[in-house]
Amino acid sequence: MQTTNRQLRLQSRPKGLLAPGDLQLVESPVPELKDGQALARLKYLSIDPTMRVWMAADTYLPAVPIGEVMRALGFAEIIESRHPDYKKDDRVTGLTGLQDYVLIDASAKQFFQKVPKIPFVSDTVFLGVLGMNGLTAFFGMEIAAPKKGETLVVSAAAGATGSIAGQIAKIHGCRVVGIAGTDDKCAWITKELGFDAAINYKHPDWKEKLAAATPDGIDIDFENIGGEIMQEVLSRMNLHGRVVVCGFISGYTKADPNMVSLGTVIVKRLHIQGFLILDYAARSMEAATQLGQWKMFGKLKDRETIVEGLEKAPDAINMLFTGGNTGKLIVKL
Ligand SMILES: NC(=O)c1ccc[n+]([C@@H]2O[C@H](COP(=O)([O-])OP(=O)(O)OC[C@H]3O[C@@H](n4cnc5c(N)ncnc54)[C@H](OP(=O)(O)O)[C@@H]3O)[C@@H](O)[C@H]2O)c1
Repeated sequence: MQTTNRQLRLQSRPKGLLAPGDLQLVESPVPELKDGQALARLKYLSIDPTMRVWMAADTYLPAVPIGEVMRALGFAEIIESRHPDYKKDDRVTGLTGLQDYVLIDASAKQFFQKVPKIPFVSDTVFLGVLGMNGLTAFFGMEIAAPKKGETLVVSAAAGATGSIAGQIAKIHGCRVVGIAGTDDKCAWITKELGFDAAINYKHPDWKEKLAAATPDGIDIDFENIGGEIMQEVLSRMNLHGRVVVCGFISGYTKADPNMVSLGTVIVKRLHIQGFLILDYAARSMEAATQLGQWKMFGKLKDRETIVEGLEKAPDAINMLFTGGNTGKLIVKL
């Protein structure tokens, strides 16, 4: 076993995209085990937009303190254990941080979940479609309560969460329109995932195309972006439509995020609800079971963008904000 634990620690709070040095690679000794502790080696890191939020300020979780290991979800294998609940080769997902090894003790245990080894299923699904993003799409769609024949628009539609949310809406019989940032992403969600239409918001006529793709208006907005894109979607909502606010990624790298005028909410009598996946921890098995069945029967397809090497994690975080990923973004260690 190696004796060095490489860690990415937060050195400065980024302005805009991460700059070199905002996260600093440092080496520290692999911690020695005491009774009641287990040591896990990271295999995969989940790269999520909320990490940029955690770097900036206190929000729904406290900001990561300067000098601390950057908070992140990951998939790890237990390599040594003096903890009664874990044995060698157990596999866990949880708040591992951006590092090679993580120590799990009684206080940290609530942040980790054991995951099974399933034949022909890759480990990485426990970070994506059967992990945080799949669960977010599942419970977000539960709030949306889609009905057969309704029109749902989802933004960041070729991303980890949006691609699953759109497919769940298809399972419920909706007309699904995705908004994404490249023609290749639009082709993937229509040709492979079965979305009814896709709009590339970088084309100058995207608003006209959105109008053409939603001739009966929009009943549900599954919102991942905010700003101008959300504003345009709201303007096409039907009376009493539902807006599920999952994320506002267009604002996470800005000091002055794009605001959305809520006048339409009154005029259209919209129901608007935000949610956070961490409120649904107690129901994670229920969602993962349903998502797993859909995946097994080919009703849910997923894609991953894999970046290799802990030292590449800062670049990977930036990829989320420049559209460099399709599907779930993962760093492989
Ligand atoms: N509420 C919750 O509990 C919860 C949990 C997980 C995620 N989320 C939210 O869900 C959203 C998606 O997260 P994810 O993890 O699934 O990431 P993701 O969609 O896999 O990746 C982010 C994508 O957002 C698009 N994007 C980035 N900046 C943009 C901008 N300024 N305008 C338009 N599109 C932009 C990019 O795709 P394009 O190429 O299409 O631009 C990028 O690939 C985020 O807002 C995130 O915060 C919320």
